[in-house]
Amino acid sequence: EQKKRIFSGMQPSGVITLGNYLGALKNWTKLQDEYDCLYCIVDMHAITVRQDPVKLRKQAKDLLVQYLAVGLDPEKNIIYYQSHVPQHAELAWILNCYTYMGELNRMTQFKDKCAKHADNINAGLFTYPSLMAADILLYQTDLVPVGEDQRQHLELTRDIAQRFNGIYGDVFKVPDAYIGKVGARVMALQEPTKKMSKSDENQNNIITLMDDPKVIMNKMKRAMTDSDTEVRFAEEKPGISNLLSIYCAVTGKTIAEAEKEFAGAGYGTFKTAVGEAVVAELEPVQKRVKELEANKDYLDAIIKSGAEKASRLADRTLTKVQKKVGF
Ligand code: ADP
Ligand code: NA
Repeated sequence: EQKKRIFSGMQPSGVITLGNYLGALKNWTKLQDEYDCLYCIVDMHAITVRQDPVKLRKQAKDLLVQYLAVGLDPEKNIIYYQSHVPQHAELAWILNCYTYMGELNRMTQFKDKCAKHADNINAGLFTYPSLMAADILLYQTDLVPVGEDQRQHLELTRDIAQRFNGIYGDVFKVPDAYIGKVGARVMALQEPTKKMSKSDENQNNIITLMDDPKVIMNKMKRAMTDSDTEVRFAEEKPGISNLLSIYCAVTGKTIAEAEKEFAGAGYGTFKTAVGEAVVAELEPVQKRVKELEANKDYLDAIIKSGAEKASRLADRTLTKVQKKVGF
């Protein structure tokens, strides 16, 4: 029986945080046996915001290494750079012609990004969702694991696919959101009411995949707690709740088990335990990153074969689409 196909990607726009890891990457590794997965490094999306080319190239390579280091197997998944498969851009152009300005105007992420990058509101930022639709539709994707912030874009992808199919017959599979075990939503350590994000200026708010054990322990020590003393998951205790969910995401324990484990323990003891659990989780990943970085030929071979495999699949859809529109 044909496995269902999953497409997902991440922008090489900075460091990978514990949030990216627990919310996305770690779950991806659990999908690789059951599904036929494509994991893309979406460097074309990244340039909708001005990037330093040397840094972008480095970050894309780092992201590839981290995909592999967390356990994504290049034999089981197609791992590749978006910019290496020109079919993404070709289909995106066609889809642009089947996407309405009004639809793109309604995207809340576009509005947010305009506010954040007021000096560079470029057309790519505006048509970002049609490139994302192309990413997904090129591969006849069944399922897309999306965070809350990408839900609206996936809805638009579905609308574009249905519109195109309505005109030309069944060309695209209409993708669904992947609703699996949800990954942990990790909050900023010192401001636990907002999510941990790589673009945060306060480094004490984020833990990165490559942080030293000492740095991790230090950041944990400085994480916000509250004036209460109980290690308990509760809405009015966002700091402690965040540390609890990090602890559980890493150890596999339930919140109830963790609460019991730390009943009567002070916050200091609890934070140390969370820090140590995170360190233990990231240590093998960091070790593997070092090994992979020393193996340039292996990485280059993966980059090349990933692009070839993706390109072969992409061509099937693109050829069909080109014929339909009259090329
Ligand atoms: P960032 O805010 O760090 O730039 P992205 O928007 O690039 O993150 O998201 C990349 C992936 O990581 C998405 O699947 C997103 O849902 C997930 N993700 C990002 N931040 C978090 C977080 N704090 N907790 C859980 N998942 C997250
Ligand atoms: Na994103």
